[in-house]
Amino acid sequence: MEQSQIKLYYKNVTAEVLGAEQGITKQQFDELARKITPLIVELNNARKQGKTQYRDLPYNTETAAKIKKLASELAGCENFVVLGIGGSALGNIALQTALNPYMYNTDPDQRRGPRLFVFDNVDPAQLRSFLDWIGDKLDKTIFNIISKSGRTAETASQFLTIHQLLTEKLGPAGCKTNIIATTDASGGTLRKITDDAGFRSLEVPDGVGGRFSVLSNVGLLSAAVCGIDIDALLAGAADMDKRLGVEDFFANPAAINAAVNWHYYNRDKKISVMMSYCYGLKDLADWYRQLWAESLGKAKDVNGNEVFVGPTPVKALGTTDQHSQVQLYREGPNDKLFTFLQVNDFGTDIEIGPALEAAPELEYLAGQKMSKLINSEKFATEYALLKSGRPSMTIVFDQVKAHTVGQFIYLFEVTTSLAGLLFNINTYDQPAVELGKEATFALMGKSEYADLYKEIEPVTDIDTDFLI
Ligand code: PA5
Repeated sequence: MEQSQIKLYYKNVTAEVLGAEQGITKQQFDELARKITPLIVELNNARKQGKTQYRDLPYNTETAAKIKKLASELAGCENFVVLGIGGSALGNIALQTALNPYMYNTDPDQRRGPRLFVFDNVDPAQLRSFLDWIGDKLDKTIFNIISKSGRTAETASQFLTIHQLLTEKLGPAGCKTNIIATTDASGGTLRKITDDAGFRSLEVPDGVGGRFSVLSNVGLLSAAVCGIDIDALLAGAADMDKRLGVEDFFANPAAINAAVNWHYYNRDKKISVMMSYCYGLKDLADWYRQLWAESLGKAKDVNGNEVFVGPTPVKALGTTDQHSQVQLYREGPNDKLFTFLQVNDFGTDIEIGPALEAAPELEYLAGQKMSKLINSEKFATEYALLKSGRPSMTIVFDQVKAHTVGQFIYLFEVTTSLAGLLFNINTYDQPAVELGKEATFALMGKSEYADLYKEIEPVTDIDTDFLI
């Protein structure tokens, strides 16, 4: 069956629509094409040299087969709990929100698998509420601990808490059956614990950073367990891959996407708003936020020069944020590029109820489709932004399905790689995040970080002269 392709619509960044001051002229597009075409070649070569391993994930049928087998072994569980953070959590959340119904956890009739919970925080009140609820359901609950390094304090602390609970209630055997660790193949703290305790485990592929790992074991297990078609997800990513290797700038959606973002970044539009007009896609905007921020926000370029670059990604939800953010988006500083997510067919629809006699002014809504309303609001916002000279692009989904979501993920991953080449930075590291992790170790008393603790201590000493 012919599968639909997501499309990037970029007319509303052109000078034809926005005028030469805000829009991109034909000549500027040609310049962007000249700048980016060699970078597409560079990225294709980097891939051949094995430097961008995430590009090959869609073709890993062996992983998909293993995951489906494991998912079928777990079919009897009632709750599936992911413990992870950042790249080890956001993809799982995004897939679930996009591809399973809104009431999935609450309504058994809307579920094709266990309830799913993803804990990507260490708020004691949040976790306490969950622990109180899960206490007598542990035997039917699987905990998937995801941490590439195994040393991240949030995930490690959740793991230790759950491990104690499982040991107390189900004994060591319970830990073995109810814990699945997803971690580095050979190194790191979680691998050591896993091998020692004999937990079932999956590998985080070598050379794939957390934020690029959703199409690996990291994101696929919870998806498969919850009934998401992971083959279609990977096939969608592979389909997009074919569109993104092409060296013709104007035929390559990742190249256009990266180029437009980079063009506006250099023209004082350093904020990139992704505004989804589909509730299900809102957490993909959150996933994109991490991908874009952690990959592109860098102090130094690849030659070691200080550059302090990086567009600030913002997520917004239509229509909700029309009543919260759009005032600023239209009349505040013209410092943003907008990317809308639009869905043509929601797979279901609602006919708005009849008008009431007392309010004939609502007659215009009566009997109309809710999908027409949400998409009209998207066009209305797009139009209103254009009237204020604000550029926007749209990613158009015919439908939100595993196949189109796979395309979206891959499109933004490769867009990020190309944007990294444009900014001339290392897209794949996150030194600033590492310092925060180490500072946490110091504050929590890890002995090797005693010197760092001394440096941080003054920050923790609250000067009451400034506390009002
Ligand atoms: O994208 C990244 O690399 C990070 O967001 C990591 O995923 C995050 O810090 C968690 O790291 P780990 O999987 O090692 O626990």
